Parts: sequence; C-alpha cells; structure tokens
Amino acid sequence: MIQIKGLSMTYETSEARYTALKDINLELAAGETCAIIGPSGCGKSTLLKILAGIITDFEGTVEINGQPVMPKTQIIGFIPQNYGLLPWKNVYENICLGFKIKHKKQADYEADLTSLIQLLGLGGLEYRYPGELSGGQQQRVALARAFLLKPDLLLMDEPFSALDAMTREEIQNVFLSVWRKHSVSTVLVTHQMEEAVYLGRKIVILAAAPGKVSKIVDNPLFGVDDVREHKDFFQLCVELRKMIKEDWSK
Ligand SMILES: Nc1ncnc2c1ncn2[C@@H]1O[C@H](COP(=O)(O)OP(=O)(O)OP(=O)(O)O)[C@@H](O)[C@H]1O
Ligand SMILES: [Mg+2]
Repeated sequence: MIQIKGLSMTYETSEARYTALKDINLELAAGETCAIIGPSGCGKSTLLKILAGIITDFEGTVEINGQPVMPKTQIIGFIPQNYGLLPWKNVYENICLGFKIKHKKQADYEADLTSLIQLLGLGGLEYRYPGELSGGQQQRVALARAFLLKPDLLLMDEPFSALDAMTREEIQNVFLSVWRKHSVSTVLVTHQMEEAVYLGRKIVILAAAPGKVSKIVDNPLFGVDDVREHKDFFQLCVELRKMIKEDWSK
C-alpha cells in the first residue's frame, strides 16, 4: 500500500522558492494502478520523483507498505519517458540490468524472464540493440525490465506518449495483461484522458500549480473487457475532461 499524507514540496533556487506540491493526500492499495493527470508544470514528475526516492526534502509522509521510501531496500521500478535503456547493451542485457543493480541472482528469475519475454512479444529480439528497435519495442523492453524485479512500486512518467496512437493502444493492452499477471502497484503520469481512464483504477486529477489534488476518481470502468468500445468509456472521458476544464480555468 502507498500512503501519502500532507505532502508538500518546495524547490529552492538561489533566486526563488517554488512550491511544486501542496498538501497532497493519497492512498493506493497494494496491487492497484493509479493514473495522475494534470496540466504541465503542476508537479506530476515531482510527485513521481518523491515516490522513487529521488527527491527527499519534502514535508509530510510518504510510505510504501508502511515504510518510508527507501530505494536501497525497496524495489522501485521507474520507467522514464525515454524508456531508460542503455544503448550499448542488447535487449537481453537491458532486461537483466536490474539484477546487477539490485544484487539479485539471475538464476532465481529465469522462468519469469522467459515468460515475460513471451508475454511482451520480445522473442527473437534478445540480441538486438535499442537503436535497432521501434519505439513500441523499446517500451516493451523497459516494461520487461521493470516487471521482472517484481517491484514494490512501479512508476511510469508519460510512458506511452512518444508512441503513435495504434502502438500506444497495443502497448497499453500489453501493459494491462502483464500487470494482471504480476499485480504490481503502479503509478503512472499521463497527459491523455483516455489513457488515464483505461489504465487507472484510481484517477488523480491535479490542479494547476501549485500542485494540489483537485479530485480522486474511483474508476468504475477499470479492467472492463474491451472498455474502449463502450459508450460509458467515452462518456466518462468527456465528463472528466469537462471537470478538468472548469477546474484548471479557475
Ligand atoms: N529542479 C527544479 N528547480 C526549481 N523548480 C523546479 C525544478 N524542477 C521542477 N521545477 C518546477 O516545479 C514545477 C513542477 O514541475 P514538474 O516537472 O513536477 O511538473 P510536471 O507536472 O511533471 O510538468 P510536465 O507535464 O510539463 O512534465 C514546475 O513549475 C517546474 O518549473
Ligand atoms: Mg513531467
């Protein structure tokens, strides 16, 4: 479970102080997905960096399974927007990179490794380098690496934004099917309402800067089969968009 209480964060530069997050409260059950949506500059990436343990000078408490964020002992998967693959390592080596960083024995993960490569459609690409892959394939490699370590928390910052619409939908499906198998607590940031409604069991709408939660939506459509074809899906996206427009124009 992820628990955020009274979280505020102010950036201090030599000239100014800037409050990027203000009094954020949020609870996420273990194995849940949460989509964060908000206008540019409202603090989404800042929030992910705090959850990843990259930013530590904040006010309030942030706990993962009852413990403060500790990247040394917890396994936190972070997929940045550019996928974070090492160009000089092949697909197989990139997927296995986490073992080295976390000092784990690869032998213990061999079965999962094989099944993830299958599930993500990476069979046959193991010896290619990232530069020899499409954007969608690179994203699959990043997902394989993240899921393989069975993270306590998976963080994704606009993970699919660089992909064309068709590839994006396909990778969203791939993500959900891997997530169903591994049920990893996931927080993802997105600019796209359809993505938030498709992938977020919870949808957190952040207000314009300084970042405050303006609404948390328990998404009734999460996990419904072929939900993108449902009228309700379209309707919910329209409603949320309207709500956001009113809120962000304040
Ligand atoms: N290192 C920093 N020093 C000072 N201010 C910063 C720093 N990093 C971010 N900010 C400011 O904090 C605010 C929140 O930044 P953040 O990157 O979290 O926004 P975001 O919601 O992820 O935006 P986007 O949607 O454009 O990615 C912005 O106004 C940004 O200018
Ligand atoms: Mg950002």
